[in-house]
Amino acid sequence: MKGLLTAGGHGTRLRPITHTKNKHLIPIANRPMLAYAIDYMAEAEIEEVAIIVNAGDREIETVFGSGESYGVKLTYIEQDAPLGLAHVVKIAEPFIGDDSFLFYLGDNILVGGVKKFLEEFERTQSNCHLVLSRVADPERFGVPKIDGDRIVSIEEKPANPKSDFAITGIYFYDSSIFEAVNSIEPSDRGELEISDAHQYLLDNGKSVSFSEITGWWKDTGKPSDLLEANRLVLDNVAGSKSANVDEKSSVTGKVATGEGTTIVNSQVRGPAVLGDNVYVKNAYVGPYTAISDNCRIVGSEVEYSIIMSGSSLENVECRIEGSLLGHDVELSQSQIRPRAHRIMVGDQGRVEVA
Ligand code: DAU
Repeated sequence: MKGLLTAGGHGTRLRPITHTKNKHLIPIANRPMLAYAIDYMAEAEIEEVAIIVNAGDREIETVFGSGESYGVKLTYIEQDAPLGLAHVVKIAEPFIGDDSFLFYLGDNILVGGVKKFLEEFERTQSNCHLVLSRVADPERFGVPKIDGDRIVSIEEKPANPKSDFAITGIYFYDSSIFEAVNSIEPSDRGELEISDAHQYLLDNGKSVSFSEITGWWKDTGKPSDLLEANRLVLDNVAGSKSANVDEKSSVTGKVATGEGTTIVNSQVRGPAVLGDNVYVKNAYVGPYTAISDNCRIVGSEVEYSIIMSGSSLENVECRIEGSLLGHDVELSQSQIRPRAHRIMVGDQGRVEVA
């Protein structure tokens, strides 16, 4: 059994963050999103894993290296252009060879890992095992039509979904998927769609089995999905306190803090994570907040947010909530009148001023 993970694509819905950073490196509870996917592979005892990256992208390899520290052996495969998920499978054929494999979309996060689905794939001995999740907005996903215990057809992002299931980005295949991805044509949007490859398997008498995720699963396509994923992971975070906390401060609930972090005259309410060298003074850090290394939160309040490394909040009067701050962002409030908003935001930035 091998593993194939995606870390390419456009990341358009997460701009401007993805202008300068690969989407799969956005931190969820202070760990790159893709780290969770690699953990799931290791837990399922899948040792050889290939990661698909955009042509010329060295960022992912710089972060994950050989994979040794995760207990897997990583290979990197460059995709010339994001030509679709079936194209990803196609270019991975030399790596996969005759093995069965787990194809996992690196922007999917779930509770409980993938091991039980792998066991189900092995038990059913099907050619393809899909993992479904009931969703409120199936039109955003690949959607199956189900008759009894069988999937009879699959459509990609249908205007009129035939069920309220999404096909999640967790797919198990034997080598019959290669015939499928080599036979289909690009869709109207110019991509080789994985849903068309699945439909090909169904049309050509291959067995397609499925499991349902009953726990939490998220495709982190939008900023609100990232905040939700962050909330979920923080709910399960173990508290560990290595910060210097002065006697005027209170740290309650599950809070993990890194080395060199200082909390002065502040309240930190978990679940929350603060990385290394974070400085919190005269401030409030509320539940479901992840603050990466080298940030400063001074005279400000922040809750249910992701703050990436090197950023600062200084004397911001209104509470920052449901927010995503990139790296080295400065948010401050002038103490001099007249008070005015002076804003420097990059392309496709989004600011809501109350
Ligand atoms: O998350 C589940 C959904 O993922 C499925 O329900 C859909 O059937 C499937 O097509 C896919 O839809 P998305 O619109 O979410 O796919 P997206 O373009 O966001 O790409 C998913 C992942 O694959 C992401 O990690 C980026 C990467 N990717 C994508 C393309 C198109 C690549 O590495 N190369 C590509 O060519």
